[in-house]
Amino acid sequence: MKILSANDKDIAAAARALRSGKLVALPTETVYGLGADARNERAIARIFEAKNRPEFDPLIIHVATPGDADGVADLSVPFARELAAAFWPGPLTMVLRRKEWVPDLITSGLPTVAVRCPAHELAGRILREAGIPVAAPSANAFGRLSPTTAQHVISGLGDRIDYVVDGGPCLLGVESTVVDLSMEPPLILRPGGVSLEQLRELVPSIELFDRSTTSPRAPGQLPSHYAPITPLRLYEAGTLPVEAEKPGFPEGISVAAICFGHKEAAKLRSAAVFSSVTDLSPEGDVVEAAARLFGALHELELSGCGEIWAERLPDRGVGRAVNDRLYKASVKPCLLSPKS
Ligand code: TXA
Ligand code: MG
Repeated sequence: MKILSANDKDIAAAARALRSGKLVALPTETVYGLGADARNERAIARIFEAKNRPEFDPLIIHVATPGDADGVADLSVPFARELAAAFWPGPLTMVLRRKEWVPDLITSGLPTVAVRCPAHELAGRILREAGIPVAAPSANAFGRLSPTTAQHVISGLGDRIDYVVDGGPCLLGVESTVVDLSMEPPLILRPGGVSLEQLRELVPSIELFDRSTTSPRAPGQLPSHYAPITPLRLYEAGTLPVEAEKPGFPEGISVAAICFGHKEAAKLRSAAVFSSVTDLSPEGDVVEAAARLFGALHELELSGCGEIWAERLPDRGVGRAVNDRLYKASVKPCLLSPKS
């Protein structure tokens, strides 16, 4: 695997590599993606292999400009053009009827395809120079933490891929919002960088997939996803236990806390029962917390702590996406078994 940077020569090399069927990890504003030529089935098959991703989990096609989405999907349904105009380039993925040419491997055989135009300068330049639609899931092994730095990609996928373009840390830090526009009313399949509040302004009827009442429609909605190897417990805001002798505090295991806001952090630090306290945003800013989430989880996973206990963020803005990822990180992988 070769590391490329943001200069013209390396951008040209990344674009050439994509055109010739190579796997190129590249930064987007959300997380790093593992890109391959969407028209090349062998290259797409290699994505699944490198990530160890089951073939029932479809991929997002990335396009250089909003106009290029018409080559991939049918945007003539209600709201598609309005949403594209409002949020592209940006962290919104739309699920729409696919164009004939889109390989089944990308859509897992579904009649729909997920498409997004990312708002990252470097990603945009590579996509424009490559001149092809690029299929790109997050550049992590299936089910594991998403990568928000080139280093995360290198340690997670290493030699299973051909190139990684290092564009520094991703600004948003959580994945795009996935909205299914092939159904009425439109449904948010995965909360992400564009918030429910923002979407409701344009699509008042939009619904948020509710995991407590509905079974998963997309594999990204499976519980246990985006997970650190370290067990993670999720608590309501302000309810992290602070007394070591309380039931539930595991004996002889170091517990790292993740919290939100300096008041809570001060309380947890003074309790002195946690091996570390990570405050995702001392000022209580959900956007800052989202940007720091995966970096913090990667760090704690490497730190060797026994468990991670995290508190939920307020359910507003991108806080919903952070809560969704924390919830999925807290679910044990055994729940993925088809019998459960
Ligand atoms: O921010 C992002 O979306 C990042 C960057 C790299 O663009 N990509 C990303 O891709 O998160 P991935 O593969 O990790 O997640 C794509 C999600 C999955 O939950 C998948 O199930 C869903 O989109 N998806 C893709 N195609 C779909 C379809 N036709 N219908 C329903 N869900 C779909
Ligand atoms: Mg992913």
